[in-house]
Amino acid sequence: MDETNDLSGARVLITGGTGYVGSHVAVALAGAGAEVELLDNLCHSSANVVERVSDLAGVDVTLHRVDLRRQEDVPGVFDGAPFDAVVHCAGLKSVAESISHPLDYYDNNVVGTLNLLRAMDRAGTRRLVFSSSATVYSPEGVPPLDESAPIGPINPYGRTKSVVEEILDEVCAADPSWGVYNLRYFNPVGAHPSGRIGEDPNTDPANLVPRVLDVALGVRSEIAVYGTDYDTPDGTCIRDYIHVCDLADGHVAAVARLLDTATGCRAVNLGTGTGHSVLEVVEAVRRVSGREVPTRPHQRRPGDQPVSVADASMAETELGWTARRGLEEMCGDAWNWRHHNPRGFEDG
Ligand code: WQD
Repeated sequence: MDETNDLSGARVLITGGTGYVGSHVAVALAGAGAEVELLDNLCHSSANVVERVSDLAGVDVTLHRVDLRRQEDVPGVFDGAPFDAVVHCAGLKSVAESISHPLDYYDNNVVGTLNLLRAMDRAGTRRLVFSSSATVYSPEGVPPLDESAPIGPINPYGRTKSVVEEILDEVCAADPSWGVYNLRYFNPVGAHPSGRIGEDPNTDPANLVPRVLDVALGVRSEIAVYGTDYDTPDGTCIRDYIHVCDLADGHVAAVARLLDTATGCRAVNLGTGTGHSVLEVVEAVRRVSGREVPTRPHQRRPGDQPVSVADASMAETELGWTARRGLEEMCGDAWNWRHHNPRGFEDG
C-alpha cells in the first residue's frame, strides 16, 4: 500500500465491480484500507468474481446486483452507510459492438451514468472517479497525447465516454460540492499477479492481448496482424499498454485526492508514455509462455490509428502516480491468469 494513499475508513462503491478493471480496482482500494462494495448487473461478468475479490481483499465484499439502466433500482444501493466516493467502471466497452448497437451503448453508458449521478446526489455522495477512455481523443491528435489534445471520438463507444465527461464537467460547474476525475485509459492489459482475477471476456475478444493469449493456449490457431505497412519501425500499430494493476493504483490515487481536497472536474490520462507494436506484444507473449504464436499479415482494421501513446505527466503531478510495470510483466501476469484459468471464472 502506498503510504500517501491510505484510505483507511473510507467507503467506496465500485460500479462494474465484477468486471475486468472494476475487480482490480476493488482489490487495490481494499489494499489501501478502504471498505469496498461492488455494483454489477453481471451482463458481462461472473458472480464468481466476488469470492475471488473477497479472498484477495481479505474481507467479505458485498455485491449489489443492480442494473444502472433501471432507475428505480439505483437509489436503494445508497441506503446503507454513506459512501465517501464512487468509482464508476460499469459500461459497455467494445468499439465494434458500439457501431452495430449504438442505442445499447448510449443506454448503458450514458443513461446508466445519469441514474447513478441522481442517486449519488440524493445520497450526498459527490466524489466520483469515472472510467473514461483514450478513444475520446481525435485522430488528429499528435502522440504522445496530453489531456489538452483535441477531443473527437470516431465511434459510438468513444462518444458515450466523451458525453459523460461533458455531463460531469457541467455537474461540477453547477455544484462545487462535486469532485470528479475522468481517467482516460489507454490500453489496459495484464492481470493480478495472484492469477485469481483477470480479463474474462465471455464474448469473443476483439482486443490484441486476449487473442494472442488464445493462440498461446491453442484456443486460436494464429493471430492476424491488422496491417504491417504502417509508418512505424516494424510496420505494425503502436499502443500504450498499461498493466491493469497500475491502472487500479491510479484509481486509488484519484480517490485519495478526491477525499483530500480535490473538487471540480479534471481529466487525467492513465498510460505509461511508452508504446509497443503488435509484433512486440506477440514476441513478449512468446517469451513469457514459451509457446509458438504464429502470425499472419492481414489488411488494416478500419479506424485504427498507427500510434496511440499517452503523455502521462499530468497523472504524476495531479495524482502522484506513475505506471511501474513493463510489457514483460503485463504479458507474464496475463499468461499466468489465462494458463491457470483456461475457462476464466467459470472454473469457480
Ligand atoms: C491493439 C492493436 C489492432 C487484434 C481498444 C479500444 C479502447 C480500449 C482498448 C476500452 C491494434 C491490433 C488487434 C487482432 C491485431 N478499450 N490487433 N490483431 O483498438 O487500440 O483499443 O481496446 O477502453 O477504447 O478502442 O486495442 O487491442 O483492439 O488493438 O493486429 O486480432 O492490435 O489493429 O493496432 P485498441 P486492440
